[in-house]
Amino acid sequence: MKPNLFQSYTLKDITLRNRIAVSPMCQYSSDDGFPNDWHLVHLGSRAVGGAGLVVVEATAVSPEGRISPQDSGIYTDQHVEPFAKINRFMTQHGSVPGIQLAHAGRKASASKPWEGDHHIGPDEGGWATIAPTAEAFGSNLPKVPKEMSIDDIHRVKQNFVDAARRSLDAGFQWLQIHFAHGYLAHEFYSPLSNKRTDQYGGSFDNRIRFLMETFAGVREVWPERLPLTVRLSVTDWIDGGVTIDESIELTRRLKSAGLDLLDVSHGFVTPDISSVPWGAGMMLPHAGRIRTEADIPTTTSWLITDPVQAETAIHNGQVDVVSLGREMLRDPYWPYHAAKQLGVEDRSGILPDQYARAVQ
Ligand SMILES: Cc1cc2nc3c(=O)[nH]c(=O)nc-3n(C[C@H](O)[C@H](O)[C@H](O)COP(=O)(O)O)c2cc1C
Repeated sequence: MKPNLFQSYTLKDITLRNRIAVSPMCQYSSDDGFPNDWHLVHLGSRAVGGAGLVVVEATAVSPEGRISPQDSGIYTDQHVEPFAKINRFMTQHGSVPGIQLAHAGRKASASKPWEGDHHIGPDEGGWATIAPTAEAFGSNLPKVPKEMSIDDIHRVKQNFVDAARRSLDAGFQWLQIHFAHGYLAHEFYSPLSNKRTDQYGGSFDNRIRFLMETFAGVREVWPERLPLTVRLSVTDWIDGGVTIDESIELTRRLKSAGLDLLDVSHGFVTPDISSVPWGAGMMLPHAGRIRTEADIPTTTSWLITDPVQAETAIHNGQVDVVSLGREMLRDPYWPYHAAKQLGVEDRSGILPDQYARAVQ
């Protein structure tokens, strides 16, 4: 019997060859949103390395929704073909291509991490930002966003819908909507960043309205046969912020609206990360609880690096799929090394034919 980690996983009409996903990771390497050779090699290497699912980095649904001027974007029909080329390569090598659709809200218009990770002005290619409430994130991101009008809200929702349609045209088979990490949707969800007094702020029902409406719009254009997933910051770790209990209720409602799987993430709606309980597999217990209480498939990341830890998480019913971020940057061949460590004898289907016979 193969370890759980190397059993295939079917969600809707899509089957992953194993339970290993590459977590979305911004590369800050695009020009006007377009993916290029860097993305082909970066994403293609992880597909060749054997991951079942490769999720493309936070990809902006509008230019103003980019974190940095170098972010990935899918805001015109011209973006479709460059993504399609990468997706053809990943599919050919056995990985399911996924994409994360995002709008950075008040955290947009920043420099790349290795150039300071701070808000930039028009002279450096920056732009005016929008958010539910005209309050800055603070710290390195001091720009005060414009409070979104109802028209702005409708426009951004439509941007998500159009981006989802283009993602389908580009051959993505797994869609993730970014509702986490202090970006626009999370800014609506969290009382720490949403101080609105209209129907998009205040009560739980009002704070989740933008998320529910955006999700419903995307659901209409994203086919039933393909997985539609969400990444959610399920807790802000701060008094007055979102809680796991609220997030379980939100997940139940998203499930009723057609959610297929939740990527359980956390935090980053304020600069204060002092109460985050950093540690190996720190989100696994939360993912397990949500999987049971909202009765929905889950994945999570955050310091999952060890094959036995990943195998145990699936065995224990905490997640259906493990997502790895930084460990996949360290080792694109993590699936191969994990298979060896877990005693999988037949490692064909993990490495490509070009490599498999030589290194079995
Ligand atoms: C370079 C880098 C870029 C990232 N970009 C994104 C992103 O685009 N979208 C997202 O949801 N998370 C992003 N993350 C978070 C990762 O997806 C992942 O959740 C996080 O690194 C924790 O998992 P790990 O401990 O396996 O690295 C990024 C992380 C890194 C290191």
